[in-house]
Amino acid sequence: MSQIEILSAAKLSPLLEPQVRAHYNLHDRLHESDPAAFAKVAPHIRGIAAHGESKVPAELIAQLPALEIISVFGVGYDGVDVAAAKARNIMVTHTPNVLNDDVADLAMGLMLAAARQLPAADRFVKEGQWPQGPMPLARKVSGARLGIVGIGRIGQAIAQRAKAFNMSIAYTARSARAELPYAYYPNPTELAKVSDYLVVITPGGAGTRKLINAEVLQALGQKGILVNVARGSVIDEAALIEALEKGVIGGAGLDVFENEPNVPEKLRALPHVVLAPHIGSATQQTRQAMADLAFNNLHAHLSGKKVLTPVPECA
Ligand code: 8YV
Repeated sequence: MSQIEILSAAKLSPLLEPQVRAHYNLHDRLHESDPAAFAKVAPHIRGIAAHGESKVPAELIAQLPALEIISVFGVGYDGVDVAAAKARNIMVTHTPNVLNDDVADLAMGLMLAAARQLPAADRFVKEGQWPQGPMPLARKVSGARLGIVGIGRIGQAIAQRAKAFNMSIAYTARSARAELPYAYYPNPTELAKVSDYLVVITPGGAGTRKLINAEVLQALGQKGILVNVARGSVIDEAALIEALEKGVIGGAGLDVFENEPNVPEKLRALPHVVLAPHIGSATQQTRQAMADLAFNNLHAHLSGKKVLTPVPECA
């Protein structure tokens, strides 16, 4: 067994943890569970293994003088203080691309589920309501107007799927992407005004906090459906609950929340909302690919080789 010490900043995926343990001394969230033991090992920690939603703040980085790499199992790394890491020349890696298909698939699934009321339809049949009459009519997805907030790798994968549904596609992002054949709107409000479905797939973090606010929801309108497969922080959750309760928007499909795994009771009580427990990348195949990439990044760096997928700030 190697003498290299690694700290995990999350309960690691069972697909990743054995790979890390096979090569390194893994200290599973020791900073949270046993501060005294952590203080002893902290000077020797050379790597952190984290998940997409893990917190790796500047205060933790400051306690690890030997830290060289933070490997994130996930494409999003908004919980990592990358500026603090960069200031110490610490490499940060993530797992882009391997999860594009799954997250895009789930975005389409949530859109269809919320529009066609699939969870309610399932309950309708199982609870024996069908003999009393038909379900209320739902909303059509094919041919509708899709607005995508964030047109990175996953946003483009969503657009590709939406094309097969004959949807018209528009997007907002920090700047227009001339190479893309979709209409650009300068902000989410302008995009929401011309969308039946608004899908959020932008990075989390300070730059996008509460980007989807009451004004955007008002613009989306009473027939509009919001889908979020990005980060809970991108939406003003209180404003969303109010908009759903008052019928300002028509419905929502949500995979991510402000304070996971806690979802507000009010949101859980709403009938026209479809909820999922942050499962965008949660298939066997994709989680295996993510685990392998996260491990290979960590292992490459600690073996003196180039990492495969640094975050853009560290590339
Ligand atoms: C998580 C994610 O990393 O890729 C991301 O940004 O949010 C997810 O894939 C995953 O749930 C592991 O916790």
